[in-house]
Amino acid sequence: MDHFLYNDGALHAEDVPVAEIAAQVGTPFYCYSTATLTRHFRLFDEALDGLPHLVCYAMKAASNLAILKTLANVGAGMDVVSGGEYLRAKAAGVPGERIVFSGVGKTRDEMRLALEGGIRQFNVESEPEMQALSEVATAMGVEAPITVRVNPDVDAKTHAKIATGKSENKFGIPIARAREVYALAAALPGLKVIGIDVHIGSQLTDLAPFRLAYEKVAELTEMLRADGHEISRLDLGGGLGIPYTRSNEAPPLPVEYGALIKETVGHLGCEVEIEPGRLVAGNAGILVTRVIYVKSGEGRDFLILDGAMNDLIRPAMYDAYHDIIPVLEPSPGVEQAKFDIVGPVCESGDTFAKERVMPPVAAGDLVAFRSAGAYGAVMASEYNTRPLVPEVLVNEHQFAVIRPRPTFDEMINRDTIPEWL
Ligand code: LLP
Repeated sequence: MDHFLYNDGALHAEDVPVAEIAAQVGTPFYCYSTATLTRHFRLFDEALDGLPHLVCYAMKAASNLAILKTLANVGAGMDVVSGGEYLRAKAAGVPGERIVFSGVGKTRDEMRLALEGGIRQFNVESEPEMQALSEVATAMGVEAPITVRVNPDVDAKTHAKIATGKSENKFGIPIARAREVYALAAALPGLKVIGIDVHIGSQLTDLAPFRLAYEKVAELTEMLRADGHEISRLDLGGGLGIPYTRSNEAPPLPVEYGALIKETVGHLGCEVEIEPGRLVAGNAGILVTRVIYVKSGEGRDFLILDGAMNDLIRPAMYDAYHDIIPVLEPSPGVEQAKFDIVGPVCESGDTFAKERVMPPVAAGDLVAFRSAGAYGAVMASEYNTRPLVPEVLVNEHQFAVIRPRPTFDEMINRDTIPEWL
């Protein structure tokens, strides 16, 4: 459920007509709903009721400060994967002890930054990284709390570009080698082993791969404890999928996911962390664009939008499906038509949908891409010197621009011409 609904014949974001925002902000823009963001966070938080836990929002999904602050205000921790994300989390007021640092290639500078500012834990992904962290922490005279990300060799059954838990992926250390890597961690100065981390992929629409992975983690916990390691925290990653269509898709609910966590690792007495990104932000955001032209081609009609692949890359990159709906509610029973829906960028990859059946729309009409809140604005670029897409946050009847559209001057003046030219 989200808060983008037709009301009085017009799409609203909570209580605000989307067309009103478009009139003030221009198009394209992303629009997020506070109520949906906080509702989704709470679903996870409540799903883990009864277990000591922290839901660390994977801020890579949507990392605007206003979104982070909205979530932090209802109790979210943050999962960060770069020094930049760490600084964003801090800027949004999240204390270091609620920030976990994931990522396969943390640099020494990033380690230093997090150790100075405070960090809940590093999820370490390799032996060389462990060595580097040990050196950095020792030089600073501090101890770095760590988990080791294990790769459980589980097929997440998701898109190849977002699966991470198979042995051929670059992530984590093979679970079969975990005991030897934990022994190394325990021997290195400056590190404090506190737990285990696992993340197997994104947009999982079945609980079975999670079950396999978490059972392996539970088994490993017992094994590592027997080896004398203190395993008091399990970071179980993110990855729970969302419905991208409103028809027959029904991925498991957070409450079912929570029950699985309790069933598989609940008996271990560990504090549990999860790192959901997509499910928190995905259906909490839409991308609003305007139709520039309707062009009749050979045997097909094109809707040419003012939003493009630089604003939402998911269809081009992952063949992702997004519902695209008119902002003006179509009359019931109106005859539908088929369109190829494209942006103005100069490559054929700038296609959002082929032969999409839609209610008729005309040049000048607004359309909204649903389920665009996660991995939308954060993956946007200025390709074709198109201004970085702005973001708007709605809260009941109010809305605010939370990232303005840059002017062309701002964009162009970021470049500098060397003096020899
Ligand atoms: N934790 C770790 C270590 C991750 O790598 C990720 C996502 C998450 C948590 C959050 O997963 P989520 O709950 O959002 O599924 N750009 C792609 C998705 C990439 C996901 C990368 N890692 C897309 O647009 O589908």
